[in-house]
Amino acid sequence: MSAENLREALVEEIRDLYNAEKQLMKALPKMAKGATNDQLRDAFESHLDETEGHVTRLERVFELLEEKPRGKHCAGIAGIIEEGSDVLQEDMESSVLDACLIASGQRAEHYEMAAYGTAVAWSEALELGDVAQLLRETLEEEKAADKKLSALAESGINEAATAGESEEEMDEQKTTRRSASSPEQPSATARSARQRGGRR
Ligand SMILES: [Fe+2]
Repeated sequence: MSAENLREALVEEIRDLYNAEKQLMKALPKMAKGATNDQLRDAFESHLDETEGHVTRLERVFELLEEKPRGKHCAGIAGIIEEGSDVLQEDMESSVLDACLIASGQRAEHYEMAAYGTAVAWSEALELGDVAQLLRETLEEEKAADKKLSALAESGINEAATAGESEEEMDEQKTTRRSASSPEQPSATARSARQRGGRR
């Protein structure tokens, strides 16, 4: 970063974010396509729509700062995306894949939250109220997207991944358990207790 003052540093940070958002616009459709859980796919797709809005807001920020809308390669987000795409190339059980996609999505969100948080604080310090407000709106959407991913992980994806089962397998087993009431059929509770025991 070659900035002589905080305003220049802010412009550099905005350029970094502008490029990061554009990289995410290419990555999010791939993550959505890779997701096997419907709600996770929807979450990536709706964050893609929000990301388009983030790009537009950053263009407005460039305008307010009287700078050309120009990005600068963001190596940080590129690394996070690269790790995420490795996950998509691996042959893994679908619920584990979903859990890993959430992990890489949250890494991206946290990177953006840190960068937008800094940019908001710097614009406030520079008394650039309109710029700070635009950046704060995006920061709030990044935080909400992060929370949504946590909620999805905790609402069953992590549990399914723990058991090494896909959603369909879990559904199939529920059906099998209902139709076959053989005494040898282990109960869900006994089975998950054994799995918990096995991991310790
Ligand atoms: Fe964003």
